[in-house]
Amino acid sequence: MIDIPRFGSRARQLAGLDISSSSVKLVELSGGDKEAYKVERYAIEPLPRDAVVDGNIANLEVVSEAVKRALRRFGPGVRNVAVALPASLVITKRIILPDGLREQEMELSVETEANQYIPFALDEVNLDFQVIGPAAGSPGEVDVLIAASRKDKVEDRVAVAQVAGLRAVVVDVESLAIEAALELVCRQLPNGGRDKVIGLVDIGANVMNVAMFRNRQQVYSREQAFGGNQLTQDIARHFGMSPEEAEAAKRSDSLPDTYGRELMRPFMDSLALEVSRALQFFFTSTQFNQVDHLVLAGGCAVMPGLCDVVGARTQIETVVANPFAGMTLAAKVRPKNLLADAPSLMVACGLALRRFDA
Ligand SMILES: Nc1ncnc2c1ncn2[C@@H]1O[C@H](COP(=O)(O)OP(=O)(O)OP(=O)(O)O)[C@@H](O)[C@H]1O
Ligand SMILES: [Mg+2]
Repeated sequence: MIDIPRFGSRARQLAGLDISSSSVKLVELSGGDKEAYKVERYAIEPLPRDAVVDGNIANLEVVSEAVKRALRRFGPGVRNVAVALPASLVITKRIILPDGLREQEMELSVETEANQYIPFALDEVNLDFQVIGPAAGSPGEVDVLIAASRKDKVEDRVAVAQVAGLRAVVVDVESLAIEAALELVCRQLPNGGRDKVIGLVDIGANVMNVAMFRNRQQVYSREQAFGGNQLTQDIARHFGMSPEEAEAAKRSDSLPDTYGRELMRPFMDSLALEVSRALQFFFTSTQFNQVDHLVLAGGCAVMPGLCDVVGARTQIETVVANPFAGMTLAAKVRPKNLLADAPSLMVACGLALRRFDA
């Protein structure tokens, strides 16, 4: 038998836990429904190199220790977390099923469908599905999203949480969590970004992901090996530092004046070039020929002036992602720090939002 866990039932208390290659990030939100959301607390704890590689937990102990440290700064009272798997470890597929199926009938249909395209035995995978809504243009049918992942990949994440004393009650997909956070960013755009093509550019430590959305639906996604680690390595080489020193200096803005001109600016230029390449790929491989807004996310998005460099190169209006804009903040959350950390907290924020799922 395969086990079909529910896509997160509404939990009374739940924090988002993002385990990425450079750090673990925790976010807790409250409010929801009629009130605005409130950021209760968040924490970011760096991970040593090679603890998480290509989305795989390579060193469970080291990652759990980092989660424990993050928890100590986060404070007591959190037990349930939502975690996510990178899209590369998950097979997702949209199918259409008749409306009004009973739970069991639906599970059976999903299993039958999944059998056709999942390259593993079904007893080796976690299978899950979610009814998205009425299928466009076919009355009486619904769009259903199926997600399947190898069990061991899910278990690794669950185990990290467990060793740190947490319970992973929701296992999501990173791209879906980002989608949820992006919706909060889109609300800040004119007319809520409706009918517009919105490009999300997530520049992390190792990977840059460019995804295109229209009316909340992802219509394109492309990943490439490009990220802030390249700049960190340049800094280390240029100033004779260890990678750790270079990373800390980059983040604390404490590098010599020549850094901006000789290293940061060229890095931002090649980043902008990668974005414009990704746009060309998007235009040639889809029917789209325009992008209306670019949203920069990931830790690199906070580099001063990046918006202007990307905007000038692509001629597209560009903003830095802040999914927390308009939320109230708990007293201990410093607005300035949150603003700087917000672009890298998209996944953790999207996961924290799972608390409010119906
Ligand atoms: N203030 C800053 N200035 C410049 N770069 C920064 C700053 N803060 C973070 N970064 C860079 O952002 C990157 C981390 O971003 P993020 O947390 O989004 O990555 P990640 O999700 O862990 O990585 P990946 O997506 O590649 O797995 C690092 O390369 C880091 O050096
Ligand atoms: Mg990332």
